[in-house]
Amino acid sequence: MLQSKLPNVGINIFSRISKLANEHQAINLGQGFPDYNMNPQLAQYVNEAMQKGFNQYLPMEGYLPLRNAIADKVNKAYGCNVQPTTNITITPGGTYAIYCAITAVIQTGDEVIVFEPAYDSYIPNIELNGGKVVPIKLEHPTYAINWEQVAAAVNTRTKLIIINTPHNPSGSILSAHDMQQLDKIIAGKDIYIISDEVYEHLIFDDHVHESVLRYPRLASRAFVCFSFGKLFDCTGWKIGYCIAPEILSAELRKIHQYNCFSVNSAMQAGIAHFMQHNNTYTQINIELQKKRDLLRQLIKDNTPFKLLPGKGTYFELYSYAHFSQLTEIEMVHALIKNCGVAAIPVSAFYSHAPVDNKVIRLCFAKKEETLQEAAQRLKGCESILK
Ligand SMILES: Cc1ncc(COP(=O)(O)O)c(C=O)c1O
Repeated sequence: MLQSKLPNVGINIFSRISKLANEHQAINLGQGFPDYNMNPQLAQYVNEAMQKGFNQYLPMEGYLPLRNAIADKVNKAYGCNVQPTTNITITPGGTYAIYCAITAVIQTGDEVIVFEPAYDSYIPNIELNGGKVVPIKLEHPTYAINWEQVAAAVNTRTKLIIINTPHNPSGSILSAHDMQQLDKIIAGKDIYIISDEVYEHLIFDDHVHESVLRYPRLASRAFVCFSFGKLFDCTGWKIGYCIAPEILSAELRKIHQYNCFSVNSAMQAGIAHFMQHNNTYTQINIELQKKRDLLRQLIKDNTPFKLLPGKGTYFELYSYAHFSQLTEIEMVHALIKNCGVAAIPVSAFYSHAPVDNKVIRLCFAKKEETLQEAAQRLKGCESILK
């Protein structure tokens, strides 16, 4: 009989909630994807690329003009000196870049520090590689990192620390102080970093994204992972990239070479063209902040849910501990079935010890009318959610 390599993994929460939401015709504020159209110019450039013949394999590392455009962007934004040829690898999405980075670094028995709640791919990817997950809980309700706990968890088996800023699901961000703490903890040790920065431009209220790329010592040991899906409102395109020092990129490319080899050509060429002619995408946060503020106001005006304010991503967390004793899973089922609105339970982002703080995650990357309709459906929901 086949012995599962991931015996504890089933269909993930996003797929389950989306299925239930469809069955009940609920408005899906659960899964993180925009329900509005992406920039038509980018779609047109990708179309044109296909017509011009970008339909065959491109180099394994990625289309050089695209890597040039990325280097220009990050070097300007983060004051770094990323080289397109040696440091940037184009990947089929951010999740895949993270998988390759974990696979490049982790040997059987190596320990990996993961902060929970965590994006759901990290832990299965570590376990597939024979690594041992060392989960550290972010502090509720701020979802900040307790660095004393991190320092205490580090030992000679620690090989990797995975950070994520802006953070899914909480929307918290890491500060310069956090980066200094991380730097202190790994100084002189054989520890690598994966920095999941797929939400780098989804940051609000004039907060600054503290990319690991701003910190040369950290960057010298880091795989920094990005996603065009988040940047260009096309999450289904599954295209992203990883920035890492030459030696680490070489190891990551060994994995990439035999898993994907070459990412979708027309998309690489279309995105390169777009980035050469347009940099307004770096202001995606302005429109998104309006949506976030609208959702905040609508939830405040129409429901008893209490905001746990975030600073970035597509998501905000809402607490109901003050009015309902339902578990988070019970709450999201009740919301779908009784109110016609889908949310994600934050407990789904913890893999080891069960945590139920009575908090749900809502996605605000939606049209204004979607958010208005969701609020209408939630009006007066308190009595049926106890
Ligand atoms: C924290 C985090 N990392 C990575 C990803 C995945 O990015 P991609 O769709 O490019 O694989 C997501 C998507 O939801 C995410 O939330």
